[in-house]
Amino acid sequence: MRDQEPGIKDQTIVQDRSPKPEARSPSLAVEIAGIRFANPVLAAPGPLGFGREVQSVVDLRAFGGFVTKSVTVEPRAGNPYPQVVQTPSGWLNSLGLPNHGLGGFIAKDLPFLRTLGIPIIVSVAGESVDEFVTLVEWVAREADVAAVEVNVACPNVHAGLVFGVDANLTYELISLLRARCPVPLFVKLTPNVTDIAVVARAAQEAGADALALINTIAGLAIDVERRQPKLGGVTGGLSGPAIRPVAVRMVWEAARACTIPVIGMGGITGADDALEFFIAGARAVGVGSAVIDTPNVASQLCEGLTSYLVRHGFSSITDVVGTLEISS
Ligand SMILES: Cc1cc2nc3c(=O)[nH]c(=O)nc-3n(C[C@H](O)[C@H](O)[C@H](O)COP(=O)(O)O)c2cc1C
Repeated sequence: MRDQEPGIKDQTIVQDRSPKPEARSPSLAVEIAGIRFANPVLAAPGPLGFGREVQSVVDLRAFGGFVTKSVTVEPRAGNPYPQVVQTPSGWLNSLGLPNHGLGGFIAKDLPFLRTLGIPIIVSVAGESVDEFVTLVEWVAREADVAAVEVNVACPNVHAGLVFGVDANLTYELISLLRARCPVPLFVKLTPNVTDIAVVARAAQEAGADALALINTIAGLAIDVERRQPKLGGVTGGLSGPAIRPVAVRMVWEAARACTIPVIGMGGITGADDALEFFIAGARAVGVGSAVIDTPNVASQLCEGLTSYLVRHGFSSITDVVGTLEISS
């Protein structure tokens, strides 16, 4: 006799009460030059100084990594005041790289930074090749320095030129430093050039492990009543939302011209701003000026990036990198 098919009324509906696997949150982790960053939002060099100064108002550990303000060989007091003026959609600053100098950085600033437990990248600024060599050799031998970032927006007193505006000067400097630097070497590019791709390629060919861009754009603000510059240092560097389209364009050009990772920055205030950089080809982003108004910007950005990834079905932020579609 044929087994009787169970009728609907005979079927027991067993409800599966076993715990469902949690939907996995997409990953924000990125890797650059062998360094693992838990999230791709880095503190850009400058506005957060060396961290200690702002630790009571900014959750520094929310950043994936911390890039220090540029360290010079000798201590610097900085430029005459005013050092910062507000402009529509941005800040013009002429701080003059105030810092404790190499010795002060190692003795006073680095011990605090070590306590953060996130990768620390030390930015260095020299006025000559020899100064850069001194800085890189001393900084790179310190424990817990994940990478050194060379700020090439500095004038070379011997050449009378800013290193980073000239591809040959950039190549010579970076190849010399690369040979003396046991940790990854990042190069922070200046946007005050005609063709960023040429300088980016020169840095890569010289052995840079990653590029960071953009630094501030040169500007001048004038007090028309006094017919004087608003800044004590006369000209300054423009940052904030005003420079973002320029920065995104340059990141896109540098990423297309190079194979090494690019860290993009310039005017990021929210997740969509950061996403522009990722889509243009950046593997991580830096946030500078935005922390002035929004001290918890890093965690806000991470939340916004995660919700974008969920919304678009991406499992990792790296899936977004370099996905700009241009219809012809
Ligand atoms: C007050 C201030 C100080 C800065 N100091 C440095 C510095 O020491 N070294 C450096 O490479 N960039 C420095 N920058 C540039 C920033 O790191 C960043 O490249 C630029 O401001 C663009 O990003 P943002 O619009 O998010 O600020 C400074 C920027 C500001 C606003």
